[in-house]
Amino acid sequence: MSLKEKVALITGGAQGIGLTIAEALAGDGAHVVLGDVNLEGAEKSAETLRNQGHSASAVQLNVANPEQVRAVFDSIAKDFKPIDILVNNAGITRDGLVMRMKEEDWDLVIDINLKGSFLCGQQAAKQMMKQRQGSIVNISSIVGVMGNAGQANYSSSKAGLIGLTKTMARELASRNITVNAVAPGFIDTDMTRVLEEKVRDKLIEQIPLARLGEPKDIADCVSFLVSDKARYITGQVINVNGGMLM
Ligand code: NAI
Repeated sequence: MSLKEKVALITGGAQGIGLTIAEALAGDGAHVVLGDVNLEGAEKSAETLRNQGHSASAVQLNVANPEQVRAVFDSIAKDFKPIDILVNNAGITRDGLVMRMKEEDWDLVIDINLKGSFLCGQQAAKQMMKQRQGSIVNISSIVGVMGNAGQANYSSSKAGLIGLTKTMARELASRNITVNAVAPGFIDTDMTRVLEEKVRDKLIEQIPLARLGEPKDIADCVSFLVSDKARYITGQVINVNGGMLM
């Protein structure tokens, strides 16, 4: 129970990778707060975690809304304690080729995936600096490293997260705060279930471990990065992709 007495906020924690990360950190002993635009989903998921014997709560959070982000961080500090762990996991896609991409789809993806992580990271850093400890994990993506046709907005947001990770790692290291990124490959969630079967099969052909990842493959990595075992790791991008990118 390495995270006993710690409080962790997981953005986009209602489902998918975020929920599995929440389960892992709660299993490690943390109180987990699931922050999501989908409050109903987050509340249901928190209840499921509590029924499994974990400590969990849910909060309405649109990471792209600065006032709401501030209010959520203030209420976590007031209701529990200042935050120890932030996982910037909330993310969306609005795919399309550059030539056809609408400006609003560019803006929306950058606002949620990149600016949202900046806004949450800034609030978390304020509370962590006072405590002189903390860890932040940003969920990037393999396509932030490689690029991907049809995902200029998404891959730019995920590449931007890598820059944000390294910069915050440098700025916060002297306060004993680590900041790392996890870059998942293709993981079996709602986000990838929209892919046609033949596209999925093609993808799997490119993965040395010959399967899509599972949310738990990502959650286990995050659980390590926020634990004391990773105390000397900061500013890194950990690729969790079955060997798809080496
Ligand atoms: P998902 O679509 O299943 O879940 C995303 C969650 O984020 C949902 O609960 C949604 O309500 C929430 N959300 C959306 N906009 C939000 C906002 N503005 N504020 C707060 N919450 C918001 O997605 P999945 O697959 O679990 O992805 C989680 C993260 O992992 C995302 O950042 C995604 O880009 C990243 N990722 C996923 C991969 C995959 O293959 N599934 C691969 C690489 C990265």
